[in-house]
Amino acid sequence: MNKPLRYIIVGTGGWGGYWCANVLPCLAGAGKAVPVAAVDISEENLGNARQHLGLSPAQCYTDMVRAFGENQADFAIIVVPPAHHEKVIDLALAHDLHLLCEKPIADSMEACARIYRKVRAAGKKMAVTMSHRFDQDKQSLERLIKSDEYGKLDYIIGRNTWNCRKYPSWGAFRYKISDPLLIEGTVHHFDIMRGLAGSDAKTVYVQSWNPAWSEFRGDAQALITLTMENGVKIVYEGAKTNATTLNGWGHDYWRAECERATLELDNRNLRVVSDLSGERIITQKALVQQPAWTNPWLAEMFVDWLLGKRDGHPTQLDDNIQCAALLFAAIASAHGEHPVDVQEFLQRHLG
Ligand SMILES: NC(=O)c1ccc[n+]([C@@H]2O[C@H](COP(=O)([O-])OP(=O)(O)OC[C@H]3O[C@@H](n4cnc5c(N)ncnc54)[C@H](O)[C@@H]3O)[C@@H](O)[C@H]2O)c1
Repeated sequence: MNKPLRYIIVGTGGWGGYWCANVLPCLAGAGKAVPVAAVDISEENLGNARQHLGLSPAQCYTDMVRAFGENQADFAIIVVPPAHHEKVIDLALAHDLHLLCEKPIADSMEACARIYRKVRAAGKKMAVTMSHRFDQDKQSLERLIKSDEYGKLDYIIGRNTWNCRKYPSWGAFRYKISDPLLIEGTVHHFDIMRGLAGSDAKTVYVQSWNPAWSEFRGDAQALITLTMENGVKIVYEGAKTNATTLNGWGHDYWRAECERATLELDNRNLRVVSDLSGERIITQKALVQQPAWTNPWLAEMFVDWLLGKRDGHPTQLDDNIQCAALLFAAIASAHGEHPVDVQEFLQRHLG
């Protein structure tokens, strides 16, 4: 049995609190990885690391440079807002650490491309936690589509609509940034689309806007049209300032129109519908079962990758740069009001 790997977590409030309470204890329980230090600019939020990870006050830092300088580790976990990812990644790479980072890679395509080049040049492993594509309901739908039982996939419809128009119901920083819906929300759905379609994106066209009643600074609503490289078409509706939440986190709507059946996932209810036999047949499908989903599963796969027990990770940097390219091409489309060629956009940024 290997010795557990050691990590430093940066960001222990907000979503980092969820990591401390729900994700990292699973890694310790499996004997795979243990914390050596936690960092947060808020002393109060470091309480999550003391409470759930059993770290002593001396292992909890408000100064990131000291934390990395005083503790030997194998990897860093990054759970701070996207605009701060790059400086944590730079510091972690300077200490020769691998990286497990929250989505998106960074808050601009330029920063994502810089990170991509730096991580590759350092020869380190990096994965991005795209939680929602790795949730039980989306994985169940993805596996049905890929089973080939229903024939060729033609097009997909998706929806994730909310009422979180009031500050700060969706977390304060999201009300102050540009394009909060796309950067902080739809990035997950772009990755789900890539998974369901089994393809990267070819083109994306976005109309995004901010209604008068929104308390967001940036656009909080969008209607999006995509064509994937394998020809699958997708239409997606995302909203943060509606009057009600119809399909929130973990309860989003996806419909995959296949040659022989309509596969529909709505609020975690998965069914297969077809009239092709002459009468409408609706088959309820049970969600697939396995011990862990979302971040606990992604984190475990990451550690197994570092330990050499896996050849790669499904959201490793080489894969996730496609998701980043789709996200920032979508933002370019929203502001330029024209479709964007995603692969050309990516190549232009990677140089
Ligand atoms: N995968 C998911 O489903 C999911 C869900 C929520 C958030 N996230 C991601 O997690 C990251 C953090 O989001 P959040 O909602 O927790 O944000 P947040 O603002 O609620 O919390 C961020 C935490 O980081 C700390 N922090 C901020 N800047 C820092 C810095 N420079 N150094 C050290 N600590 C710093 C803050 O004090 C706070 O404790 C983002 O990348 C976000 O997209 C992912």
